[in-house]
Amino acid sequence: MKDLLPPAVRGFDDLDLSWLRARQSVKWHRPTRDVLPAWVADMDFPTPPPVADALHEAIDRYDLGYPDWPDGSPLRAAFARRMVERYAWAASADRVREQTDLIQCLQLVLHLATAEGDAVAVQVPNYPPFLATLRTMNRRAVPVPMRDTEDGWRMDIAALDAAVAANHCKVLLLVNPHNPTGHVLTLDELTDIAATAKRHDLMVISDEIHAELVYSPHRHVPFASLSDDAARRTVTLTSATKAFNLAAIRCAITHWGPDRLLARRDEQPPDLYGTVSPLGVVATLAAWRHGDAWQKDLLTVLDRNRRHVHHVLRTRLPQVRHHLPEATYLAWLDTQSLALEEPPVDRVLSKGRLLLDGGTPFGPQSSTFLRLNFATSHQVLEEVLARLIDALRTTDR
Ligand SMILES: Cc1ncc(COP(=O)(O)O)c(C=O)c1O
Repeated sequence: MKDLLPPAVRGFDDLDLSWLRARQSVKWHRPTRDVLPAWVADMDFPTPPPVADALHEAIDRYDLGYPDWPDGSPLRAAFARRMVERYAWAASADRVREQTDLIQCLQLVLHLATAEGDAVAVQVPNYPPFLATLRTMNRRAVPVPMRDTEDGWRMDIAALDAAVAANHCKVLLLVNPHNPTGHVLTLDELTDIAATAKRHDLMVISDEIHAELVYSPHRHVPFASLSDDAARRTVTLTSATKAFNLAAIRCAITHWGPDRLLARRDEQPPDLYGTVSPLGVVATLAAWRHGDAWQKDLLTVLDRNRRHVHHVLRTRLPQVRHHLPEATYLAWLDTQSLALEEPPVDRVLSKGRLLLDGGTPFGPQSSTFLRLNFATSHQVLEEVLARLIDALRTTDR
């Protein structure tokens, strides 16, 4: 396998296992020493140097007092600038509010915009905490299954339209780029979804946290940028945390399209939902202002890794169905034809000492799927793939 890989990339391929295992964050902290983790969506790479420098500078100034942001944090203007520069989307800084993370953003929007029992259309499979949120908030999840085609994963627009009509959905929760399939919704798909949203007067909650992790020639289009109508019905959720590997900074953006909802949000007691940490803002601003060169290298490494995973699976485990992801650093693998007797996550852990995500937390039809995180060095990835092959090739029969 090794000779298929281009030369190592400095800063991304020289990861030391003892250094990774010393981390306190959950990906490496939770598993025992004999287990290799490729589960939760954190990357193994070091913090981008411009972000680390900005955080070090803030600490060196002992600048941990109350922030001076009478009109909201500087993130608002920085977000609007980034959206124009990257996607020609004229997002409005005045419509941005800060939260700690996307799950909180989602829960806040659902809390303000819907009531218990309301129907929310949602792609399945989906990011497990989103499905869990709909359950714990007693919103009725109306599943819209993604279609597994010969050309990759696709949105089923006819199924969306039918499900929304039959269940009187009020909201569509859209994850684009999609976790776990890695599909980037095309302009055609998005245009059709926007037409459905208009026809059924849906509010759209658009999670775009993976937007900057899209592989060429695929292209991210913010849902709110599609038309004035889409802009007015869309709340966009995002952050710098996926594309710059900063999950712990607890800093996220909500861009509120619907006027009435933004007014409702601003009527809330200002601290009821918490406020963002200044260090989170420092990190996000540094990432957006000075992190693009690092991100370019990152995408080179991730592109190499996604192709390598795809190649290895096709040649060494052809029974496992897999499409090359169009975005994200997550591979979504279907083990159905192996007819395993146990859930695949349990199988790779017990037989391969490999910790992956997958199974029914991603939705009822996901019992045979595994989600593999390939955002790691080529050495660690080789070991992950070797363990995966070993665990899945060992048959029970
Ligand atoms: C699609 C998607 N949305 C949201 C999140 C979580 O974001 P946060 O850590 O800001 O809650 C993730 C994390 O993996 C994700 O993949």
